[in-house]
This record gives sequence, C-alpha cells and structure tokens, in this order.
Amino acid sequence: MPNQPQPRPHGVGVRGVNLSRSSVLFEGPFGRIFRALPPADYGDNDDESETALRALADVMTADPDPVRDGPDAEEGGIPAAYTYLGQFIDHDLTFDPASSLQRQNDPDALVDYRTPRFDLDCVYGRGPDDQPYLYDNGLKFNLGLRQLTGAASNPNATDLPRSRNGRAIIGDPRNDENVIISQLQGLFFRFHNALATPGRSFGEVQRQVRYHYQWIVLNDFLPTIVSKDVLADIVPHISKGTDVLSDPPVLDYYKVRNEAYMPLEFSAAAYRFGHSMVRPGYRLSETIGPLPIFAAQPNAGLTGFHAFPANWAIDWRRFVDLAPLEPGDEHNAADPGNKNRLQLAYRIDTSIVNPLGSLPSSIAVSPANLAARNLLRGWRMRLPSGQAIARAMGLPPMQDKDIKIGKFTGDAADIRFTIDQVAGGAFKGGCPLWAYILAETVEESVVVKTTKGNRSIKTRKLGPVGGRIVAETIVGIILADSSSFLAQDPLWTPWRHAPSGTPKEFHLRDLVSKAL
Ligand code: HEM
Repeated sequence: MPNQPQPRPHGVGVRGVNLSRSSVLFEGPFGRIFRALPPADYGDNDDESETALRALADVMTADPDPVRDGPDAEEGGIPAAYTYLGQFIDHDLTFDPASSLQRQNDPDALVDYRTPRFDLDCVYGRGPDDQPYLYDNGLKFNLGLRQLTGAASNPNATDLPRSRNGRAIIGDPRNDENVIISQLQGLFFRFHNALATPGRSFGEVQRQVRYHYQWIVLNDFLPTIVSKDVLADIVPHISKGTDVLSDPPVLDYYKVRNEAYMPLEFSAAAYRFGHSMVRPGYRLSETIGPLPIFAAQPNAGLTGFHAFPANWAIDWRRFVDLAPLEPGDEHNAADPGNKNRLQLAYRIDTSIVNPLGSLPSSIAVSPANLAARNLLRGWRMRLPSGQAIARAMGLPPMQDKDIKIGKFTGDAADIRFTIDQVAGGAFKGGCPLWAYILAETVEESVVVKTTKGNRSIKTRKLGPVGGRIVAETIVGIILADSSSFLAQDPLWTPWRHAPSGTPKEFHLRDLVSKAL
C-alpha cells in the first residue's frame, strides 16, 4: 500500500543502536559489562575490518536447505517454540515506550524511556488506561474477531486484532514479525484472560501473568539454553532444587549501579545466539506446511505484519512438548510423513540458515545478511573479542583450532573452517564475540519423551562466556526489578503448585496449555 509507514521489524530501528564508533564513552541507553577492555579490530583500518567481517558472515551462512518435515541433522533437543520465546523475550527487554514523536526528536535515544525488565510491556503496551482499545472492559484482552482454523487442538485460536491495513493492534508491533511470534503473542493474551477470573482486578491478574512469565524465563528458558555447569554457578538454587533465599544468585560481572541496564555484550552479541536456532521453515499444523520463513509471494512463507490465511492456526504440539512426541524417525508407521512431529530448534552453532543470509527488505536492507549485521553491529559497538572477555573472566580462551565455523552436527564434513582460516587470518587470536559464543557452545544430552519411550538428543547450549553473559544479564535484570517476583515474593510458586509451596515444575508447555 503506498505511503504506509513501515512496521519496525525485530531488532531494526532500536533507537540508540546506531551509535558512532568514534566515541568510546557514549553508550546511549546501553551499558557495558566489560567497560575497560579494548575493542576488537580485524584489520589495519575500518575497510579491512568490514571486509573480514563480511567474509566471516558468508561462511557462517549455510547453503540452501530444503524445507521439509522429518528428522534433520542440524536440530538438537530444544522444541522450536523456545526460539520464538527467545525472540519474544528480546522484544520485551528492548521495548521502547517512547511515542513516535519522542523518537523523531531523539533518534539516538539520548533520553532512555526503556526499561530492561521482564514486565511484558510488549503485551500490555501502556495499559488499559492509555491504550483502552487493546482491552475488553479494562480487564481482559481483545482477542481479535477473526477465527483461525486448521488445528483441532487449538479450537479457540483467533488472529491478533488488526487495523484495516492488516497491521496488528498490539503493544509492540514487532510481535507480529512472523506468524509464529504473532500466535505466541496471542497465547499471552489468552493466558492473561484465563487468569482473569471474576473478582480479580486487572493489576492482580497482570502481576500473576508477569510472575508466571518470569518464572519460565528463570526456571525453564535459561536451563534450556545455558549449559548446566554455567547455570549452577549463577543460580545455584535451580540445580540444587532449593529456593532462592537459601541459595541466592551469584552475579560476578553484571553489576547494577543505579538501574538495570542492557549490556551491549548481551544485545549486540551474546543474546543473538537465537539466530542460529531458526529453521528454514516450519509446519504449522497437519494440513499447513512446511512453509519457508520467507517467501517472495505473500502467504507462501511465514513473514508477518499482515493478516495471514484463516486456516493457519498453529497446532502447538508441533512447537512445544505438550505431549509425548512422535519420534520422527524415517520409518514411523504411525506418522509416515512425520507430519505430527514436534519440530526441534536448529543447534546453537556457528551456522545460520540460508534464508537469514538474504533478509527480505521488509526486515532489513544492506547488509541483508543477518550474520553480517550481527558481526558489523558488534564491531561498530566496539565490543571486545570473545577471547578478551574469556580472559577477563579468568577463563582459558578458546584456541583458534577449536573455534569451528559450520554446522555442529557431529559430522566433520559440516565444519567449513577454523576461525584462523577465514579472511586471511584476520581473526587469529581475536574472534568476534557473537561467533565466539556460538563456537564455545557445550554439548548436553536432552531427554525428550516420545511415543516410543524416552529419547536422548545431543543439544548445544551456551557455554562459559556466552552462557554467563546471557544468564547474568537476565537474572540481574529480574533481581533489579522491584516489581519482579524475586524482589516481591521470592518464594512465590506458580498456580499449579500445591498450597504447601512444594516447588514443582512450570514450563512453557504449561503456559501454552492453560492458554489453549
Ligand atoms: C526469524 C527469526 C528472526 C529474524 C528474521 C531476526 C532478525 C533480526 C534482525 C534483522 C536484527 C537487527 C540486526 C541489526 O541490524 O543489528 C535482529 C536483532 C536481534 N535479534 Fe533477531 N531475528 C530473529 C530471531 C531472533 C531470535 C530467536 C533471537 C533470540 C533468541 C533474536 C535476538 C536478537 C537480538 C538480541 C537482536 C539485537 C537486539 C535488538 O535490537 O532487538 N532474534 N534480529
């Protein structure tokens, strides 16, 4: 449509992110964990560094892969919904509540209106008083009138409410960037509505929803993506099965001075690990898919920002472990086409799928390669190398020969290079932080319940440097938030829990099933 304002895609246009490389002091709304470390450079001048980083991006971009059902050597044991929960969390943390007028007046975010908090402001927007159109009678969310069909296990699915031009009317437009995060946003609305029983106030329900979400971030999301050993040092109560008062979190590097902040090491590098989990495409339900993440024709792929076909309701059993999954082997008589299979995220490794190497123009232009955007962003933000951060943490840095670039499938043929072989040796001894944290991932076995019994799947999780940056930042932000459950009611447990308060499990799948 002509003259339509473009939606603000995930990650693009976050104010303050285009800071000048010339000033080492200026951070805008961001902060740094390792302020004193020198920035990494990859050549004698800026042109050489840029050329080297683009060359690294090229070898981190996989060759085109077929979009298919069935087992895949690149997948680990993490259900695919966690990829989009990860993206959703990024949006929550980087939500910018400034109005468009304030943004125009302050494009570099010299004034920071953002709150790095797990407060679901990407769902609640500015609340029922300021944005009454998001709500139905001030207590529940407006769910949208367009019924979504196609998934028998999700009969109440509706599309997000949309304006006449197809744009979702939601707190954070980025949560309509693709069909999966769009329907995940819808699940958060439905989870809120399910807790909004008569007699409860909006504030009380909102607090309960936030507590459940924070619980999942801490007790489910972090253990899913960060290796056990790293997490045990930072949040010992999770691995010991005790409580947060008996075994409080230990943060060695993320220190809050006045207010919680968003570290550049997190937003410009470590938390971008999720880009390597994205699959080339997904099946939405038994009848729809697999569809590629991007497609040239409208409604041939999963790109969002518009009303997609009404029969595209997601069958969440294909994204999260709601039920024992079909094992997805080649000879599964119960599901010969592997259409009922739980889709698993791609391994966290130094490879992103080919479609992310040429993002559609609705998401980003020049460079259109997401790996190049990440690497250039980290360099422009003057991030130190992965090795420099490892040394600052008192860890032995990885050797060049161990920093492998490619798919970590276990097949040597899938490794393309070691880092010192890329760009004429520009990265010898100094690997960009994003690539480093992907290369240092640790293999763990994840047990997945299947209809044929338990199956153990080798899975890559964030290691000593990346895991620590991600976990300390997330835990530090929750601890610093005076309205979080850790600050207000540290022994709080979710709704399913026995009145005795016995700690029990509450995972993403429980939130999904309550919302359904
Ligand atoms: C199909 C899925 C995704 C696409 C197309 C996508 C695309 C992008 C793009 C274009 C950027 C801006 C890059 C730049 O110019 O610096 C970005 C930034 C970012 N992405 Fe993603 N992304 C996806 C999924 C994810 C996931 C799953 C995660 C984490 C689990 C993630 C974390 C981030 C972070 C932390 C940033 C930088 C912070 C920000 O500005 O929001 N992304 N992404």
